[in-house]
This record gives sequence, C-alpha cells and structure tokens, in this order.
Amino acid sequence: MLRRPRRNRQSAALRGMATETHLSVEHLVFPLFLLNGQGIRSEIKSLPGIFRFSPDELYREIEECMELGLTNFVVFPAVADALKDQTATYSYHPDNFYLQTAREIKRRFPECCLISDVAMDPYSSDGHDGLVRNGEIVNDDTLPILAQMSVAQAEAGFDMLGPSDMMDGRVGFMREALDAAGYTKTGILAYTAKYASAFYGPFRDALASAPKSGDKKSYQMNPANRREALIEAELDTLEGADMLMVKPALHYLDVIQALKAQSALPIAAYHVSGECAMLVAACQNGWLDFERAMPEALLSIRRAGADVILTYFAKEWAKRYGRV
Ligand code: PBG
Repeated sequence: MLRRPRRNRQSAALRGMATETHLSVEHLVFPLFLLNGQGIRSEIKSLPGIFRFSPDELYREIEECMELGLTNFVVFPAVADALKDQTATYSYHPDNFYLQTAREIKRRFPECCLISDVAMDPYSSDGHDGLVRNGEIVNDDTLPILAQMSVAQAEAGFDMLGPSDMMDGRVGFMREALDAAGYTKTGILAYTAKYASAFYGPFRDALASAPKSGDKKSYQMNPANRREALIEAELDTLEGADMLMVKPALHYLDVIQALKAQSALPIAAYHVSGECAMLVAACQNGWLDFERAMPEALLSIRRAGADVILTYFAKEWAKRYGRV
C-alpha cells in the first residue's frame, strides 16, 4: 500500500504536526447576563452553570475570566417588566443599569473587548426585536430606535455593538448614526445570518424575553436557507459591518463555511444557549463526557471557518486551555 493515512496518526507528536485547526482563548467571547440589583448570582435552570449577575457580581466574574486570558464579553440585560414599553425607551434612558454597568466595566477593565446587544426585545413590552404595529413587526420605524440605542451604547463605552434584530438596513443606519455622533471607532458585529431557531430557549428563560405573541419568523431567517445568508452577508458588508456572524453555530456549520468562503471579514459564530444546554444535559446524565465533548464542539465550529466563537463554555474552556 503506497498511501497509508494512519501513518500520520501514530503518535501524539505526528498528530500534533498534522493538526489543521487550532483554537485559542483569544477567539472566544463569553456571553453574560446582567440583572439590576446587588449580590445576585442566579443560575439559569435551563442552562446549568450559567448565571445572571448583578453588576457587582459581574465585575467579579469578568475579573476571573480576565485572569484566565478570556478578554471578550457580550452582555445581555434582564430588564424588569415595569421598565418595558412598546418603543423600548429604557434602552437609551440615562439611568439604564446596562449602560451604567458597561461604563464601569470599561473603567475597571479597559483592555477587555465589550460587546453589546442591539435589539428591542429585552426592553419591549411586546417581546419582539422590532416595533410592533397592528400585530406586524415594522422595519423602517424600528431603525431610529436601534440607532438611538446604538449611540447610547457607544457613549457608554462598548467596543462593538451587536445588532441581533435582523431588521433590513440596520447596520447602515447604525453606522451613519454612530459616525454622525462621533463614534467612528465603535465597531459593528452584525448578526448577519440569524435563524428563527428553536435553540434560543434557555436564553429567553434567562431574560424572560420570549415574544408575547407570534414568533420571529418574519425577521429571523428560515432554517432551510443557506444562499439567503449570502445576501445578508453582502448587505451587511456594504453597510459597514466589521464582522459577520452566523447564529446558531453547530447546526449551521455549512452557513459558517459559506460566509467564510465569500467574505474577507472575520466570521463569528454564536454557539447558542440551546446548543450548549443539550450538551450539558447529556453530560449530567452521564451520556457524554464533558471534558471531551465540549472542546470538540468548539473545535468543530472553528474548523467550519469561524474566527470568533461566542459560547457559554468560554470560561470552562479558558479554565482548561487558557492562559496558564
Ligand atoms: C435577541 C437575542 C436572542 C439571542 C441573542 N439575542 C434570542 C432571540 O432572538 O430570541 C439568543 C442567544 C442564545 O440563545 O444563546 N435579540
């Protein structure tokens, strides 16, 4: 036999030389849930090991991550129902605890990369990412709200803004508003191909942000479609996005690969709450080995072409393989 692929798999040293994909802590982003209050660390039932933190506890969590070499965070606010309204006004209110906490995070940890969520759903009494009028999610009247939210977040010191709403034209609209307000350095991590997925369940539990009526299929993408993601990628690129994201990740590896092939921008992938929860649940049952399954899942996302991975396992990965 002339060709024996097993020759390169014989020893750890050979396998090491032939390794095609590497993952390091600098590629990871850790999603964090923020609650108003003090001294709160409340575990999310449907995502064991992941917590909602009050600001004081969140600073402690970020400090621990930074010590592990994990420097990138995306923060999502859990907003009290009393503060929600139809037009998401709390999202840019000067007293907003999310914005205040962001400012304090960047004061304490200036070297971290802090990423926001730009969407109406955490602040909307309708629980939708866009403005609801007569039962319809309207596109163009949502854009000024997203722009106002964006400028407030840039002002608070976020390094990158993460529009997760899937309204048409939002990246360009945000970019113009940011530039007009002088925030030319604030980046946009566009949720380019975000699907109407069943795998966001634990996230919506964490924030109590499920839509009050209907679903998100008129704005989030159809899970059956891949080519449509290329249209979204082209538009986000033309509109000024700095990175393109695919979400979810593990069930959409082909979409990650397609965007990577089409674009020279960094590609991010969001390993979402439900994808992490199913792995955790199987491990808790003793059906899978977390020590092997978790890093394999992240490596697979990277092999598909993701430069950046948002994952609830970021800290666990960093504990094992981060800075020593
Ligand atoms: C909403 C938003 C969602 C997630 C991030 N931003 C949920 C949704 O679209 O309903 C999900 C993330 C996850 O499941 O981990 N703007």
